[in-house]
Amino acid sequence: MNSDSLVSINDLTKEEILELVDKTRMFEENPNRKLLEGKVIATLFFEPSTRTRLSFETAVNRLGGRVIGFSDAATTSSSKGESLKDTIMMVSNYADLIIMRHHLEGAARYASEFSPVPIINAGDGANQHPSQTMLDLYSIKKTQGTLENLTISMVGDLKYGRTVHSLLMAMYYFHPVFNFISSDELKMPLEYKVFCDEHNIEYHEYTDFSQEVIDKTDILYMTRVQRERFTDLMEYERVKNLYQLRNSMLDSSKPNLKVLHPLPRVNEIAYDVDDNPKAYYFQQAQNGLYAREAIICKVLGIDVK
Ligand code: CP
Repeated sequence: MNSDSLVSINDLTKEEILELVDKTRMFEENPNRKLLEGKVIATLFFEPSTRTRLSFETAVNRLGGRVIGFSDAATTSSSKGESLKDTIMMVSNYADLIIMRHHLEGAARYASEFSPVPIINAGDGANQHPSQTMLDLYSIKKTQGTLENLTISMVGDLKYGRTVHSLLMAMYYFHPVFNFISSDELKMPLEYKVFCDEHNIEYHEYTDFSQEVIDKTDILYMTRVQRERFTDLMEYERVKNLYQLRNSMLDSSKPNLKVLHPLPRVNEIAYDVDDNPKAYYFQQAQNGLYAREAIICKVLGIDVK
């Protein structure tokens, strides 16, 4: 395996996470640094993306590197039957780093096992999304002043949502309390609850999106129901609109509460929330640029001062 790759948030120690949070702050202060001159970075997106691909590509551009890649695998030779392994081996001939998103869980780990250049996982199925987690952690630290002892309520698709899986695993260093709010069909998978049990992380499960839970929350992490992961679209239709945050639901919430969402949103946050100072999802996505600049430099061993 390429030891410099970032495939899972568990690849990082607590110290490395905190260092990345600090470097993210430095990139927010100055995003334009010529640290990637002469480097070529490949973005291979086998699944659709707006934020992750464009913020990674913006990060490379702001750091003075160059980008190759694709956002639609149908235009590549994988549509002719070329394997993921052969694709990665080819692209590693051209690029110093591969950033990839794939619909198969474990695809990025598999690629990192033979790739001569580092791999950054930009999302693999319902599994992990570590760069999203780094921007989430930065957003939490920036808005709460700490990562420690926070109550985080995760709402929506906790079964297929890779962002909540990654965030849960990263937060274990920081003594959180979790509220998991979902329908029975989209509950947090057992493996993540076992992870919480093994690490003495307090969690509570609810099917009601109640005012009582909102009012105890520091970070309200809304998620989209992931239509693309359902094999039965009738089931998707039944659960897709079960939870919607409306502006009035924030009236009695804690003053420090922030609403996060990895985006894209569908119906789970009403548009009247957008102007509430507690809505933070657009700034959260902006933080993705700075977090991804920090991640790229880390995996390439580039010191940021
Ligand atoms: N948050 C996120 O991964 O967004 P995109 O799917 O647009 O990249």
